[in-house]
Amino acid sequence: TNGTFLPLQNIQGDIFVGMKKQLETFYFFHINDATSFKTALKSYVPTITSTATLLSPASSQPLAFVNIAFSSSGLKELGITDNLGDQQFSSGMYADATNLGDSLSNWKSTYAGTDIHGVFLMGTDQTSYITSYLSDIESTFGSSITQLDRIDAAARPGSEAGHEHFGFLDGISNPAISGFSMNVLPGQAIVPPGIILIGRPGDATIRPPWTLDGTFMAFRRLQQKVPEFNKWTLDNAIQNEAKTLTVQQGADYLSARMFGRWKSGAPTDLSPEVDDPTLGADPQRNNNFDFSHLGSLLISDQSKCPFSAHIRKTNPRADLGDLNTINHAIRAGTPYGPEVSSSESSSNTTTQDRGLAFVEYQSNIGNGFRFQQINWANTANFPPLKTVTPGIEPIVGQGSPRTAEGLDPANQSKGYTIPQFVIPTGGEYFFMPSISALTSKIAA
Ligand code: HEM
Repeated sequence: TNGTFLPLQNIQGDIFVGMKKQLETFYFFHINDATSFKTALKSYVPTITSTATLLSPASSQPLAFVNIAFSSSGLKELGITDNLGDQQFSSGMYADATNLGDSLSNWKSTYAGTDIHGVFLMGTDQTSYITSYLSDIESTFGSSITQLDRIDAAARPGSEAGHEHFGFLDGISNPAISGFSMNVLPGQAIVPPGIILIGRPGDATIRPPWTLDGTFMAFRRLQQKVPEFNKWTLDNAIQNEAKTLTVQQGADYLSARMFGRWKSGAPTDLSPEVDDPTLGADPQRNNNFDFSHLGSLLISDQSKCPFSAHIRKTNPRADLGDLNTINHAIRAGTPYGPEVSSSESSSNTTTQDRGLAFVEYQSNIGNGFRFQQINWANTANFPPLKTVTPGIEPIVGQGSPRTAEGLDPANQSKGYTIPQFVIPTGGEYFFMPSISALTSKIAA
């Protein structure tokens, strides 16, 4: 399929293509009995959804897509002690949480440790299919596993579908994979397959042969304080040059600058002062920018996009000369939790848990998710060589003080101290093997 040299029937589907369904359930489990787990897994492997299946016509697809991944403690539980060549994976995310900037006190106890051995990811359009696939998992695996947590993530309702909880269109910019992606979109980064898949060109680490075509999945449970975010942007609303904005428009302007995109997805680099929903919805144009049109002002001018903006910190484009093909990962997260209630919005206070079930795939955690979080988002002096200190990334950047400049285009040296609106409450590093490795190495 697809004219690629990659064995698409052997690569789990969420990695390159994404399940792209209304509903995505994460079922985190502990393995109680390795022997019976391995037997059950052998019979379950045919249900695991490949990339080839996700690319096949909808009429021939199953009712739900299922992928599976294991933590380092999970592989050990199954008797697999090979070194996978990734330090962060081996130690697990909890051991790394302080380095990432997390407050451990915010971590849910389920994730605080190494009890989570694996996760099933399930994508579908109907709740009843989730129910029936889950009951199939529970009858197949029986008491060999115990559910430790379950996150029922879902696209937001109506016109908010595809938007994360702060209201911004997500899933626009992911790297294209050379030798796989057929239609590279204007502005899209192109990375060698081994940046994502283990053992392919671009993955320089020597690892056990059975890990070929697997990937590391960084999972983060990121709570979002939406009413608080809305209140803060209203309280700090900014003005355009003509001073014609209402407070709400000024809040939208500020929040767009914190992301580097408007809620519609339109990049502020291309549409600096107003949202442009036609641009936001046009894949031929909505990623076709790299800040470089500023020429020599690239080092000083934040009028179009703050240096600290979410999309600029996590993908610096021309700030690094567009040459960086290493620090990329494929994002495949889904929002979880209910819509903001009227009492939450009138009290400007979160009372129901909501956020992003964040997923990133890469062959090297330290180059992908972890680099974006620690070396970029959390580092005030990134992007480098600017005439001012950009500050910490205002959405997911962690550290104190959480300060950034450049958010107000009329007063670019004005510093902001920004409350934390995204709270990491758990997560884990997983290895998502190829489908043949599930059969030949992990199952029995
Ligand atoms: C892009 C939201 C967490 C990395 C985006 C976009 C939005 C968004 C709206 C723009 C749409 C797009 O380009 O697809 C969020 C929210 C988060 C979150 C609400 C937390 C609740 C993270 C984290 C990382 C990250 C933790 C990595 C450390 C990226 C990357 C891009 C992106 C790499 C693409 C940048 C580009 O290529 O232009 N995110 N994100 N995000 N985000 Fe996040």
